[in-house]
Amino acid sequence: MTGTIIAPAGLEAADILAELHARGFDEVWNAATFGQLLALPGSFVLLASVDDNPVGFIMMRVAADETEILTLAVDPEKRRAGTGRALLDAGLRKARDKGAVKAFLEVSERNAAAIALYTGAGWRETGRRARYYADGSDALMLSTSLI
Ligand SMILES: CC(C)(COP(=O)(O)OP(=O)(O)OC[C@H]1O[C@@H](n2cnc3c(N)ncnc32)[C@H](O)[C@@H]1OP(=O)(O)O)[C@@H](O)C(=O)NCCC(=O)NCCS
Repeated sequence: MTGTIIAPAGLEAADILAELHARGFDEVWNAATFGQLLALPGSFVLLASVDDNPVGFIMMRVAADETEILTLAVDPEKRRAGTGRALLDAGLRKARDKGAVKAFLEVSERNAAAIALYTGAGWRETGRRARYYADGSDALMLSTSLI
């Protein structure tokens, strides 16, 4: 984490977000997808960089008093260095500042790294959607309180 800067990003970063996302997920979210998501009321992105090189980001949305993590990705070559947790913590702080008291997300039951990250940060499973993802895996619904 030394030297990592986390800062808000907008439409100007759509290409960078799409590239980081493609390294983290099979499902393609291109720059246009990020443009559409960033246009949603309450959505925001925090981008993590080291020496001006983007290494990861979190995209969230606040609606009323809830926030959803839409996506979170760290460059595969930069993982296990605390960036994912730092982005999660910074994103939740910002969502709280915007009035959120509860956070939720969906994650594949097969995504051990993400599940370990979230449960290690105190998130708890609140439900499950059977065979939600294209690979046939269930979605775990995770939630945490921000108060
Ligand atoms: C999930 C992801 C964002 C984690 O990013 P990261 O920068 O490696 O995470 P951190 O270094 O902050 O890890 C924090 C903790 O999460 C857990 N963790 C992270 N990756 C893990 C792994 N591969 N296996 C087991 N635990 C893991 C550990 O408890 C870790 O703490 P530790 O390194 O002190 O043991 C990253 O693996 C990623 O981009 N994955 C692909 C995209 C994705 O699945 N996003 C989440 C979708 S909801």
